[in-house]
Amino acid sequence: VEPVNEGAERLGGDLAWLAQAEGSRELATPFLAADLGLVERNIDEMARGFATGTRRLRPHMKAHKCSAVALMQMAGGACGVTCATTDEAVAALDAGIGDVLVANVVADPVRLRDLLGRMASAASARLALVVDSPGALAMAAGAAARAGVKLGALVEIDIGVGRSGVGDVEEGLALAAAIAASEALELRGVQAYEGHLVKVADPDERRRRCLAAFAPAIRLAEALAARGLCGTITGGSTATWDAVPEVAEVQAGTYVFMDATYGMRAPRFVPALALIATVVSVRPDGTVVCNAGSKSLATDLGAPQWVLGAAQHRSTSEEHLVLRIEDGPIPRVGDRVPILPGHACTTIAMAGRIVGCRDGGVERVLRIDGNETVRRASRLGRPA
Ligand SMILES: Cc1ncc(COP(=O)(O)O)c(C=O)c1O
Repeated sequence: VEPVNEGAERLGGDLAWLAQAEGSRELATPFLAADLGLVERNIDEMARGFATGTRRLRPHMKAHKCSAVALMQMAGGACGVTCATTDEAVAALDAGIGDVLVANVVADPVRLRDLLGRMASAASARLALVVDSPGALAMAAGAAARAGVKLGALVEIDIGVGRSGVGDVEEGLALAAAIAASEALELRGVQAYEGHLVKVADPDERRRRCLAAFAPAIRLAEALAARGLCGTITGGSTATWDAVPEVAEVQAGTYVFMDATYGMRAPRFVPALALIATVVSVRPDGTVVCNAGSKSLATDLGAPQWVLGAAQHRSTSEEHLVLRIEDGPIPRVGDRVPILPGHACTTIAMAGRIVGCRDGGVERVLRIDGNETVRRASRLGRPA
């Protein structure tokens, strides 16, 4: 049995009202609801960190896959958006966001064609992706040439995550030179992500390890600048956005909604998103079963949290969340209750929309328009 609500007073307590938001009674549960006031508070809080100096915020759309939220971040001063998938990027371009970075290697020709075709019709859009090999570079350059557009490209360097990225500065320099020599590509700098460090609990240790991890990315950027090439470094996360001054463009994402896993590591941001579920069973020992399981609440990073008091997480199955209430009111069968997701990003990726609430009621529905599952399904339904 896993304790799930350490620090429950601080995590998600402000979200209780979302389960009773006026205008939401007609909505079948489970559904995601956000407190738009708290979303704006998080956006403002992050913007404050970029109000002075030359560093810029390029928030990661993978956190919400929602162009409406991305537009709120742009209005809050973001310089553009970061995307994990080409579907997020197309949603951003469709919404009129003019500066889009896909911070992953794209080596699927179908995705490259779709993205660059969309870019060709968004004439003023500035679009970039990352490469970590001559093969990926050739695919990106070929797709850009066929679409007749100039595509930005960053060299990704692996600083410890152990997934994509060149292995050292020399390899990065060679790839950067090849980008600079390509007619269809424009070198936009260095992509480096410290994902293996975002969960380090102690903030000082997290910062120290980030500074050490970024050393090769900084060496690569300096070597590029010395050759007259673009050495802008982009990286960073909700828990590490202020750790490394040389990161010129910060890609934090989760800060906008937060979740149970990130809560402790980035306490200046507040949880703003809850899954609203219905209680379907209550046992005499305080065991409560809700109609929301792993098909609506992601558990890949950590268990969801009960926000109405203290509870222990018993199990999550496909359509059931089982908790044991330890302190606070015991709900009744039929009650609508808010659950704080363990991982907001993967939870949102399973949803089609977020119900945006303010001042006690529903204000607007935020469509998850960058959700690839939905996009791919609609593409399959279209004749070739
Ligand atoms: C490339 C990249 N940059 C930045 C982030 C940071 O995002 P978050 O603030 O949600 O941790 C991620 C998270 O997965 C990422 O993959």
